[in-house]
Amino acid sequence: MKLSQADFKLRRDLLAQQIGSNSIAIIATRAEMYRNRDADYKYRADSSFYYLTGFAEPEAVAVIETFEEGEEYSYSLFCRERNREMEIWNGYRAGIDGAIEIYDADEAYAIDLLDEEIIDKLLNKQRLYYRIGQNAEFDARVSQWIQKADAHRGGTAPAEVVQLDRIVDEMRLKKSAQEIELMQIASNISAEAHTRAMQMVKPEMMEYALEAELNYIFGKNGCVPAYNSIVGGGENACILHYVENNQPLKDGDLVLIDAACEYEFYASDITRTFPVNGKFSPEQKALYNVVLDAQQAAIDATRIGNPYKYPHEVAVKILTQGLVDLGLMSGNVDELVESEAFRQFFMHGTGHWLGMDVHDVGAYKNGEDWRVYEAGMVVTVEPGLYVAPDDETVDAKWRGIGIRIEDDIVVTENGPLVLTKNVVKTIEEIESLMANH
Ligand code: GLY
Ligand code: MN
Ligand code: MN
Repeated sequence: MKLSQADFKLRRDLLAQQIGSNSIAIIATRAEMYRNRDADYKYRADSSFYYLTGFAEPEAVAVIETFEEGEEYSYSLFCRERNREMEIWNGYRAGIDGAIEIYDADEAYAIDLLDEEIIDKLLNKQRLYYRIGQNAEFDARVSQWIQKADAHRGGTAPAEVVQLDRIVDEMRLKKSAQEIELMQIASNISAEAHTRAMQMVKPEMMEYALEAELNYIFGKNGCVPAYNSIVGGGENACILHYVENNQPLKDGDLVLIDAACEYEFYASDITRTFPVNGKFSPEQKALYNVVLDAQQAAIDATRIGNPYKYPHEVAVKILTQGLVDLGLMSGNVDELVESEAFRQFFMHGTGHWLGMDVHDVGAYKNGEDWRVYEAGMVVTVEPGLYVAPDDETVDAKWRGIGIRIEDDIVVTENGPLVLTKNVVKTIEEIESLMANH
């Protein structure tokens, strides 16, 4: 399944409606990124730019202009021109004709003409919408354009400059049925990758070799990882952003995998934690079930009308109770929650918006208050417990155990929909899957 040009056009229609008459929105994609001599990182277009254009090439700028009330808006795409030699070396370009014929632009220009052509477009517009603060170099160009337009004899520069994010981020936050379908595909592929990892792992395997099993499934399906994969055996699971993935996996340890792919620019985000040898120890089992209970309750709390932070509060309470029951903490559960004592073992949030970006756009608060869940929002639910290897406040048997369980949830009229349900997560299911391979 892929989005069509009509889908991207609908998004531009909506943006044009929201910026009001006599306004202009300028949306740039991100630049190519240098890795090391003569080698760039593989290019990935800016999410908001792609969201509005479906155009995945670098060096491009989209301009939406509205005119008087009732008049059609205009969409211009500035992009790289076709160039036989460059295309032989570096690949196909849509060019000016392609921008119009394939990507539905009303007007298209060579990107080299941007500084010149944009002045006419800015003249006498009421408002300029632009994502300020993302790229200092581009910000400087925009302010030069404003000065130039102001000095122009043919009119004046826009009186107001407005942060474009407010509108586009809000559009991106609530996903359409098609977007959810794309996220379901990404989730299914990622779930298959985690299932394979559970089947392939064995003691003494290197963490990177297990990562390669995930990458095989992503790559085979035409996908790339949505973020750097975490494959942490034993106490490496307690390093929240561990990405070295270069240690051997040990018999008796758990391995935590936080890895998932993006499909057609839509991300998934899954974490599973399982025993390297296929069998949980009693301590691993006890902590795992606390995290699983917290995760299931937090998923169930991800419902229309609940405040964004409510699933986190539900998870924290269950995790804290579990830590007290198992003797890792002592005291009154409500007080331990209130004082945030649980942060010794659970130091991150329970989730984040998910979409084209793994940490997706969208405000979490309305002023001082957490916003409430609405249908179409997609959020991760990812509680964890991490006992530092040198934590002398707990019995030695708990030390170095790190567990996180993460799924992707769509908020719907019928309650939480788990996109990532294709990969098992109860102890019985995991042990049975691993035993039967
Ligand atoms: N994989 C990034 C996160 O879970 O937030
Ligand atoms: Mn996440
Ligand atoms: Mn994750």
